[in-house]
Amino acid sequence: MKKLIGPFTQILPLTGLPLKGALNDEQLQIVANGGILIEDGVIIAVDDFEKLRRNYPSAQIEEITGDHVLLPGFVDCHTHICFAGSRAKDYAMRNSGKSYLEIAASGGGIWDSVTQTRAATEAELTHLLVQRINRHLSEGVTTIEIKSGYGLSVAEELKQLKAIHQAANKTHAHIVPTCLAAHIKPKDFDGNESEYIKHLLNDLLPKIKQHDLASRVDIFIEQKAFNTSDALFYLSRAKQMGFEATVHADQFSTGGSEVAVKAGAASADHLEASSDYEIKLLANSDTVAVTLPGASLGLGMGYAPARKLLDAGACLAIASDWNPGSAPMGDLLMEASVMAATEKLSTAEVFAGLTYRAAQALKLNDRGILTKGKLADMQAYPCNDYREILYHQGKLKPAHVWTGDR
Ligand code: NIG
Ligand code: FE
Repeated sequence: MKKLIGPFTQILPLTGLPLKGALNDEQLQIVANGGILIEDGVIIAVDDFEKLRRNYPSAQIEEITGDHVLLPGFVDCHTHICFAGSRAKDYAMRNSGKSYLEIAASGGGIWDSVTQTRAATEAELTHLLVQRINRHLSEGVTTIEIKSGYGLSVAEELKQLKAIHQAANKTHAHIVPTCLAAHIKPKDFDGNESEYIKHLLNDLLPKIKQHDLASRVDIFIEQKAFNTSDALFYLSRAKQMGFEATVHADQFSTGGSEVAVKAGAASADHLEASSDYEIKLLANSDTVAVTLPGASLGLGMGYAPARKLLDAGACLAIASDWNPGSAPMGDLLMEASVMAATEKLSTAEVFAGLTYRAAQALKLNDRGILTKGKLADMQAYPCNDYREILYHQGKLKPAHVWTGDR
């Protein structure tokens, strides 16, 4: 059964825009008084609403009253929302001027979330995930990548990934799981970082494959996590096993994005510390550069050089990094809007970074733009001009969100 949804004051299909590089708002196509025709969750046509009504007289109509601007659903290509507990104590300590080492010494940091997440059952984690996914979905995020990485043992990583699968079956959002067992070497592992990486390759990844729990792996490359040679070994072996790769790169120091490019990773995420060398490397590669403004806001640090990355020709996506430590807010639109004011990103660049460019970071080419054949993942904002959306800095929320035919 065909369904015609509209009329919308403006539809921004985000079609015809390049995958990489800078964009200006004049490049945005706008369909005024538009309608969207869908069938079985897939877009059939985007056009003038009255014209579609005439051409498809038997289509069921979902009428939208009042001014609305329609955008593709957002794709959040980097989150850590499979966690239990809170790190409010870390946040308060950091804001009181305590160092990373002082926070870790008082029991905070990633290991604290590992302890709290290990203490939760799979059912409890599933419940927490469904709540967070549905909050994101109500804010227009229709595809959500979710990492493990607070389990850090074979059994606990599998528990996290199973909870992500359970949660995916309980929501209308599309979920993409990623194994981040290489987040840090767990305190209770008997061996060094290289041995832990080998343990993951030998004992965890085959099980993930066997149960089809994830097709992507991530690694945190940083002085306090994994070094570049262990990371390159891990990613190349994981790729041989059929996993797609992504990297936590250049958050505090460089090295990570170079590994990401060498390993042919789908994305290099963070990039706060990237210099002109890394910017050029990413711009000349197929690896998507992902900026995580929520982590900069949470840690009180500068943003990744988003403007420079775009000007150099990179494919720039924007994701929330929603996690209990560095990015507790998890409001993707608010984070992107606020960062755009400092980094000087055009509306087109922000919308591209939240939609089709973020989909590219997940290697999904069936979404992120509104055109024939793509998924009908969409969101409508109660306003009459697309520029209102970033202007309200995240406080204007979508009034309607659709995933497929729901
Ligand atoms: O992406 N950088 C490493 N991992 C997370 C933080 C996780 C945490 O603090 O729990 C990040 O910012
Ligand atoms: Fe992260």
